[in-house]
Order: sequence, then structure tokens, then C-alpha cells
Amino acid sequence: MHDKELETAAQAAIKQAYSPYSGFRVGAALRTQDGKIFAGSNVENASFSLSICAERVALFKAVSEGHRSFTDLAIVSSSGRPTFPCGACRQVLIEFSQDLMVHSGDIYSKNILQLLPDKFGLNSIDSS
Ligand code: THU
Repeated sequence: MHDKELETAAQAAIKQAYSPYSGFRVGAALRTQDGKIFAGSNVENASFSLSICAERVALFKAVSEGHRSFTDLAIVSSSGRPTFPCGACRQVLIEFSQDLMVHSGDIYSKNILQLLPDKFGLNSIDSS
């Protein structure tokens, strides 16, 4: 991954993954427009559907501390292979930044709009 600083933050976050059910560990790190980094891990639950992905943990941490615009997201996982954000995370990420670049592994870098074309967004529910 070209963005070593962000990858290092994601690698630190994966250590906190709580994934006793899937055994799949994920770390994500998000850079804000003004250069701050927020990281998260996946957090699972015995009631499986209540589990949350690392990407959304990182995003919700940042948004809940007042950040609304993001430039880059790095994702690492215990598979050691590039890990793509799930559909739910793509939808939640695109709410805030259509310019977001998603990085995972050495070759995988894509814009969030490439990952979620024809998105459902604010305009979709604007009836005026
Ligand atoms: N998971 C993530 O945290 N991010 C992804 O991009 C894909 C999946 C988590 C959810 C669950 O805890 C585990 O990985 C297996 O799906």
C-alpha cells in the first residue's frame, strides 16, 4: 500500500479486533480532510447481526468527533489479501466523501464511487 502511515494505523487497529465468531480480523484507518487519522476494528456479537465492520467503526468514531470529510481509507485483514469493504460500509462511507480513495494491499486503490456507482444518497430522497 502506498499510504504507509494509514496502513500502520490499520495494522495497529486490527490488534483490537473482536471476532470470536468468524475468526476474521479486520483493521481500518481513515484520514480526515485536515489530516487526522481515525482507526477501528471489527466488533462481533453473539447475536451475529449486531456485529459491525472495522470500516464503520472508524467512520463513526470520526463523524462523532465532528469530522465530515475524508480523503483515504486503508483496510487490512487477517486473510493477508486485499479486503474490499462490504456493501453496507460502501453506502455509509459514500455519505460523507465521494472523493474517498480506498486502499488495501499493494495494488488495490479505488475511489468510493467506483465501488458504489449509482449510489443512493441525499438527492434520492429529496422530493422538492
Ligand atoms: N468485516 C469487516 O470488518 N470489514 C469488511 O470489509 C468485511 C467484513 C468483518 C465483519 C465480520 O466481523 C467479519 O469481518 C466476517 O465477515
